[in-house]
This record gives sequence, C-alpha cells and structure tokens, in this order.
Amino acid sequence: MDLSAVEKAILEAPLSTPEDLLSFQKNFLKKGGVLDGYYGLLRTLPGAERPAFGQALQRLRALAEERFQAAQVHLRAAEAIRPTLTDPTFPAFTISPGGRHPLSLVESQIVHIFSRIGFTLADGPEIEDDWHNFSALNFEPDHPARDMQDTFFIDPARGLLLRTHTSTIQVRVMERQKPPIRILAPGRVYRHETISARAHVYFHQIEGLYVAEGVSAADLKATLEYFVQAFFGTDTPVRWRASYFPFTEMSAELDIACLICHGEGCPVCKHTGWVEVLGCGMVDPNVFQACGIDPEKYTGYAFGMGIERLAQLKYQIPDLRLFSQNHYRFLANFQGYDLPPN
Ligand code: PHE
Repeated sequence: MDLSAVEKAILEAPLSTPEDLLSFQKNFLKKGGVLDGYYGLLRTLPGAERPAFGQALQRLRALAEERFQAAQVHLRAAEAIRPTLTDPTFPAFTISPGGRHPLSLVESQIVHIFSRIGFTLADGPEIEDDWHNFSALNFEPDHPARDMQDTFFIDPARGLLLRTHTSTIQVRVMERQKPPIRILAPGRVYRHETISARAHVYFHQIEGLYVAEGVSAADLKATLEYFVQAFFGTDTPVRWRASYFPFTEMSAELDIACLICHGEGCPVCKHTGWVEVLGCGMVDPNVFQACGIDPEKYTGYAFGMGIERLAQLKYQIPDLRLFSQNHYRFLANFQGYDLPPN
C-alpha cells in the first residue's frame, strides 16, 4: 500500500500558527485522524503484510510527532520574543497599582476607632453550628426570631449552617475567656435573601462585646455615640430606638440621619430620612449562663453593625451589589488609601 501521499501531507502541512498546530494534531496525531485510520486498516491485512505496513506507519507517526514538536518549540519561542519586536515608539502600558477594597478600608477604620478605647480583635468560623448561632444566644427552638434571619443550612441534621450574624463570636469568646472581655469581631455573614440594591446573600458585620463588673447601658450609649462621631463626624444626628434581640435584654437600634439625601427622602432611607446602622443591647443573663459566665457578678453590652451599610452611607453608594461585583472603575475610587478617604 502506498503511503507516499500521507507522507507528503505530513511534510507539507502548514505549522506556523496555533490554529495550524491544532489541526495538524487532529489530522495526524489524534484518534479519528488520517494516521489513526491506517492503523485501523492494519488490523484487517493478511498476517504476512502486517509487519512492513506497521513499520511504515510507525515511521510516519514519528515524523508527524517530530514536526509537531519542533513547530511547538518554534511557536513558543516566537511568542516569547514578540514584545521586543513591537514598535518602540508605542506608548507604554500604564501599570495601575492595586488598592484595598472599600469594605476592607471601612473595616480598618472601625477597628481603629474601637482600638483607641481598648477593644481587641476576635475571630470565629463562617461555618457554624446551631449552638453558636442560635441556642447559646437564647433563641428558643421554636422562637419566631429564628425566622427573622433566613439561614443557609449546610447539614440541617447536624445543625451546621453558614452563620447569619457575627454574634456567634460573642459566644465563642465568652466560652473560653473570663471577664473582663472587650472584643471587636469583624466577619462575613450569610442570609438567604433575594439579591437587590439593598440586600445580598452575604455581607459583613462587626460585632462588639464588653463584659465586666458594673457595665451599664450608659456605657453602651456613650461608646456607640463616640463611634458614630468618630466615623461620620461630630455633627451627625443620631436617633435611638427600642428593639428586640433574643440575646440582649434592653435591646436598641441606632439610626443616623440619612447622609445620602440629608433627610429629603431617598430609597436608601426608605424615604424616612433615617438609616439604621447598628443593633445593640445589654447581654441577656441567659447568654452569660449558656457561656459559663456568672450573670450575678457580670454585666455587659454587645452591638453588631453592618459594614456595607456604613460604607454605603459614608461614600453615598446607591447599590450594595457594587461591593461584590468588583468593577475596576468602582474600586479605582479607593486606590492608594490605607484608611478610608474622607
Ligand atoms: N446580631 C444582630 C443582627 O445581626 C445585631 C446585634 C448584635 C444586636 C449584638 C445586639 C447585640 O442583627
């Protein structure tokens, strides 16, 4: 059988572009290609003819392999030197330095503000169990408050879930540390929400916890008003509202005047002129008990704030999704800062 036409095809097939290489590979080196077809034929030949034909095919395969590899090396080398062949008068590429994400900047600033009054950092896992997310925080099994937060369960049978708030870290710290405790705990939290300009399936919170003898609601109020003034400016109007959380007794929420519309009414403040920035309260004695701290001896306050919300107000960001889409033009506004720009 004459294989000279195949040999000619192997020798003359173009091999200068990546596309050439691909089709060469397909034709001569892969299953279903020309050579592969001949190998199929080999098996149908009478025994006596097989060795010679087999050897001829072997040789062609080696030839194809060799040409392919040489072309590959050549192509890689050509690609490697190409930049040095470009027009030297062409303007240089601008190298843009990276920057910290606005949420990371805002988190740093919050941590900085609280570190000035003695708070240190604590951490905890994002995958949590029912105990740290709910039970130890005084959510009863059928408590309606468990529905307040739509939870992503990982393994409902074992109670494994993505934490819905950073209050889990309060529990973890109190379980292993004796008062006085004064911690701040930033972290990502997850809730099953429809993604929109106002909500996302994950966001970031910072939890604060202060436990010692004789801590009062006045301490809580003073601390958080200090924070708002340090973060937003001394002339920022605030409003306290009574609230409810299972893990605090006397619970409150703090609103600040909407910095986006200055009280005119806008979608961010739902046309009320006020925006909620944090939840807080005095630690419920049941929580102390669950964590092994004597509620007769100690009192404490806790608070939790949303980092996105604070960043949104500070920078007038209309849509929460901007924080996770990470478009370059959005992030570039924050380039070059270690602390948030004012
Ligand atoms: N964990 C609450 C929330 O996610 C906030 C909070 C923290 C309230 C600490 C009181 C005390 O909404």
